[in-house]
Amino acid sequence: MNASSSSYTPPHCKSPLVTVIGAGNVGRTLTQRIAEKNLADVVLIDIVEGLPQGIALDLMAAQGIELHDSKIIGTNNYEDTVGSDIVVITAGLARKPGMSRDDLIQTNAKIVADVAKKAIQYSPNAQFIVITNPLDAMTYLTWKATGLPASQVMGMAGVLDSSRLQTFIAMELGVCTADVSTMVLGGHGDLMLPLTRYCTVRGVPIAELMDEETIERLVERTRHGGAEVVKLLQTGGAYYAPASSGCLMVEAILRDRSRLLPAAAYLQGQYGLDDIFLGVPCRLGCRGVESILEVKLTDEEQKALHASADSVRQNIKVAMEVLG
Ligand code: APR
Repeated sequence: MNASSSSYTPPHCKSPLVTVIGAGNVGRTLTQRIAEKNLADVVLIDIVEGLPQGIALDLMAAQGIELHDSKIIGTNNYEDTVGSDIVVITAGLARKPGMSRDDLIQTNAKIVADVAKKAIQYSPNAQFIVITNPLDAMTYLTWKATGLPASQVMGMAGVLDSSRLQTFIAMELGVCTADVSTMVLGGHGDLMLPLTRYCTVRGVPIAELMDEETIERLVERTRHGGAEVVKLLQTGGAYYAPASSGCLMVEAILRDRSRLLPAAAYLQGQYGLDDIFLGVPCRLGCRGVESILEVKLTDEEQKALHASADSVRQNIKVAMEVLG
């Protein structure tokens, strides 16, 4: 092929770029998912020298088998993240058995503030997705540390919690998981609010398919879904479902899909809450959180959402002390 003899000018070919901060279990699995779905090139960055480079090389060595075109670069240098469309923060400690997500706050707040400030210098227009726990407070901290408009910062939790509930309902009823639709709101903690009135199997409310006791059992399992995995693994937290959930949000933004997904978003009066990041249904597209859907809540649900918000506010207070 003689390209120089052609009068054809190729379009500007630049793949989208996603930076994943933290090459641990969540970060490396997310990198794999993004690459294998051909969504973007990925820069995987970690504080440990050699770790992201090794993971990137290993993932690239499978490229010919998995048949994707995404470039994966491992680095310890933020200069390599320049011009990212999306930055995903997974850096930080994961839970050990017996720990709550809130127990991670002191250490993770320092890490998240540090990496967010570094990343924004090289990608001032990026959308930031936060996965590090405690999720809602870390998302607020990232918003403050980057100085971005709130619509460009969001936390990944509602997709994961909804996906866990979706799986548990499908397992209970023996139906196809894809036919189950769920919605979990609130903070990513024990006070999260699975909205079972809005959970359906192909449009059929689950209350018509199972009794109240069963629904309550599945709700409780969802609330403690992360802890159940931590207890079994003994060495860290869940990462396959968190990575899949993060990847779904990345895809919604890069492909401008206007997906209606629960995410930790900045509230300014919605649900009677102000100046807080909390899990609510959002439309996610190329501009990040494009709108927030206010679903009707009963008084009891509203109370539960506010209780969850109160606990998130306590974490935000502690996290913000790191920024001074
Ligand atoms: N900069 C970059 N990377 C860092 C930094 C930092 N300042 N501090 C820690 N890391 C990296 C670690 O070196 C490690 O590779 O973050 C990674 C964390 O990986 P894991 O310990 O495997 O934790 P993981 O299971 O991936 O969870 C990460 O996501 O779901 C949440 O609760 C979970 O907060 C935790 C986070």
